[in-house]
Amino acid sequence: MKKTILITGSTDGIGLETAKMLLTQGHHVLLHGRNPAKLADAEKTLSALAQGEPVESYIADLSSMADVDALAKAVAEKHAHLDVLINNAGVFKTPKPITQDGLDVRFAVNTLAPFLLTQKLMPLLGASSRVVNLSSAAQAPVVLEALAGRAM
Ligand SMILES: NC(=O)c1ccc[n+]([C@@H]2O[C@H](COP(=O)([O-])OP(=O)(O)OC[C@H]3O[C@@H](n4cnc5c(N)ncnc54)[C@H](OP(=O)(O)O)[C@@H]3O)[C@@H](O)[C@H]2O)c1
Repeated sequence: MKKTILITGSTDGIGLETAKMLLTQGHHVLLHGRNPAKLADAEKTLSALAQGEPVESYIADLSSMADVDALAKAVAEKHAHLDVLINNAGVFKTPKPITQDGLDVRFAVNTLAPFLLTQKLMPLLGASSRVVNLSSAAQAPVVLEALAGRAM
C-alpha cells in the first residue's frame, strides 16, 4: 500500500538513501532539507526514481523553532494525513554551536526540533501512522555545558 512519508534531512546520508529506497518502492516521499541547492539536487535525482509522480520538497533550518513551525504548517497545508514521519536530520559537529535563539545547535536540531515537529504534525498522524526517530550514541551523554552551547 502506498504511504505518504516525510523524511527530515533527506538531502544527504541516511535520509537521502532512505528516500531513494522508499520512492523506488512506490511511496509518496516528502523531502526536506535546509540548503536550497542540495534540496534541488536531491529533488532532481529522486524525481527520476519517482515513477512519474512529482517529488515534493520542503525547506527549513531545524535549528530554528520558527522554521520547524513553518515546516509543519507547510506540510499540513498540502496533506491531511501522514503515514510515516522520519525524524532523521541530525548534526554531530558544527563550527557555530549557538543558534539564533541562543540554544545549543545540536540540542536544538537533534532533540527539540524532532519533538516540536512531531507535536505539530500530530493532527496528521492516525492510529496506524508511525514516527521513526534517528539518534546516535554520540548524543547519549548529557553535558550541561554542551546543552548551553559552551562545549563541543
Ligand atoms: N552516519 C552514522 O554513522 C550515524 C550513526 C548513528 C546515528 N546517526 C543518525 O542518523 C541521522 C542521519 O545521519 P547521517 O550520517 O545520514 O547525517 P548526514 O549525512 O550529515 O545528513 C544529515 C541531514 O540532516 C540535515 N541537517 C543537518 N542540520 C540541519 C538543520 N539545522 N536543519 C535542517 N536539516 C539539517 C542535513 O542537511 P544539509 O545537507 O543541509 O547539511 C542532511 O540532510 C542523524 O540523526 C544521526 O544522528 C548516524
